[in-house]
Amino acid sequence: MRKKMVAGNWKMNKNLQEGVALATELKQLVINPKCEVVIATPFIHLATIAQLLKDSPIALAAENCADKPAGAFTGEVSAEMVKSTGAQYCILGHSERRAYYHEDYDILREKVLLALQNQLKPIFCIGEVKEEREAGKQNQVVKAQLEGSVFNLTPEQFQNITLAYEPVWAIGTGLTATPQQAQEMHAYIRSLIQQKYGEQIAQDTTILYGGSCNAKNAAELFQNPDVDGGLIGGASLKAPDFLTIINAR
Ligand code: 13P
Repeated sequence: MRKKMVAGNWKMNKNLQEGVALATELKQLVINPKCEVVIATPFIHLATIAQLLKDSPIALAAENCADKPAGAFTGEVSAEMVKSTGAQYCILGHSERRAYYHEDYDILREKVLLALQNQLKPIFCIGEVKEEREAGKQNQVVKAQLEGSVFNLTPEQFQNITLAYEPVWAIGTGLTATPQQAQEMHAYIRSLIQQKYGEQIAQDTTILYGGSCNAKNAAELFQNPDVDGGLIGGASLKAPDFLTIINAR
């Protein structure tokens, strides 16, 4: 049985004190979750929140890591540094990184490899923009993103990847993919993994949905057989809403 997961992506929200307060609240609320629960926080929160979550079932993720192992790259944070804080996961390939920071397939391929070399499990995001969906090109786009940055991995490496399908037109817009659109894409993604790595790995790969997933629509999205959980932005910043989503999984 593949892992079910609900992950929160805080993005660039919450200063350290606010982040500690939210993590403390979540720790009190999330006791025996039926799925893997992850929070992805800004880099500067990681070490503090890792300590706070030590005796909690909640796992910790970074939202990014550098595409270089170490050295003269002012302002960057390496995968090794992320790992040393106690974080276990790293979001990579988020559409905001692709769009605003020009992270292309090659950069993301390096980041994924560095995360894996440092025993961080990537949560790798893929998804099409509105114009691509309107042109019926969503499958083509998602396939190229997988081939460009993760289908180079060995089967052993790929087994550490969690995928997140996040249609860009649904992120922060309140415009959620319909349960049918999500299921169709997730099934397609699983078929691509099956072609590349075989049936067993395809069945074992966790594929999350992200994009305006909230306390109201999560249960319906999670009912689909190929939707294994969610990557939650805005609704992960309010503990009661995030808990409702966790309980819907
Ligand atoms: P929203 O849930 O705010 O739409 O963000 C989704 C997302 O980008 C998670 O990574």
